[in-house]
Amino acid sequence: MQIETSRLIIREFIKEDWIDVHKYASDPKVTEYMLWGPNNEEETKSYVSQQLDKQQSINRTDFEIAVVLKETNQLIGGCGIYLAEKNAEMGYCFNSEYWGKGYASEASRALLKLAFETFNIHRVYATCRPENIGSAKVLRKVGMKMEGHLREHIWAKSKYHDSYLFSILESEYLGEELHGF
Ligand SMILES: CC(C)(COP(=O)(O)OP(=O)(O)OC[C@H]1O[C@@H](n2cnc3c(N)ncnc32)[C@H](O)[C@@H]1OP(=O)(O)O)[C@@H](O)C(=O)NCCC(=O)NCCS
Repeated sequence: MQIETSRLIIREFIKEDWIDVHKYASDPKVTEYMLWGPNNEEETKSYVSQQLDKQQSINRTDFEIAVVLKETNQLIGGCGIYLAEKNAEMGYCFNSEYWGKGYASEASRALLKLAFETFNIHRVYATCRPENIGSAKVLRKVGMKMEGHLREHIWAKSKYHDSYLFSILESEYLGEELHGF
């Protein structure tokens, strides 16, 4: 799997990527609103190794992939899409040195294109912690609508977490495209 956007190459992880993944996965600022992390080296190596295993699976449903800057070939983050029947969940995580440059929005649009145009998905959804203003902004920017506020539905890092639930339907994606989205 490889996707090219104007500034990004979104490709499969390779074993050596763990070093660049660790730069963001070990950063408490990056993992503040995630249900994992900050990682130690073993956790990051294990994460990358799990992704390599998933690449080999028959009828693969989990596509967690690396985001690389075309210009420098630098790995700047990861994103993922997880298929379940006609629904898919998406997510992303970027090295904080590269925040605020539109990369999450660019990668998310590529994931939506993949979901609707390649995998024939009907609805793509994503969740974020209500405090994660940046992530909610990305989701709205790529055309998602907020569906609800899930209260204390996840236990992680010794406490319950709320989530905002966002989604976009195929018809909305196609409509957005017609309007130059
Ligand atoms: C959330 C995250 C992916 C955003 O990535 P990014 O590449 O900076 O996002 P973009 O540059 O595409 O930003 C899209 C919009 O959100 C805004 N935005 C991004 N981060 C923001 C923040 N912390 N506060 C307010 N607005 C923010 C941008 O200004 C932009 O708005 P604009 O189009 O009006 O200028 C990134 O901060 C990150 O990786 N965070 C840590 C991991 C994480 O939380 N992942 C999401 C889990 S749900």
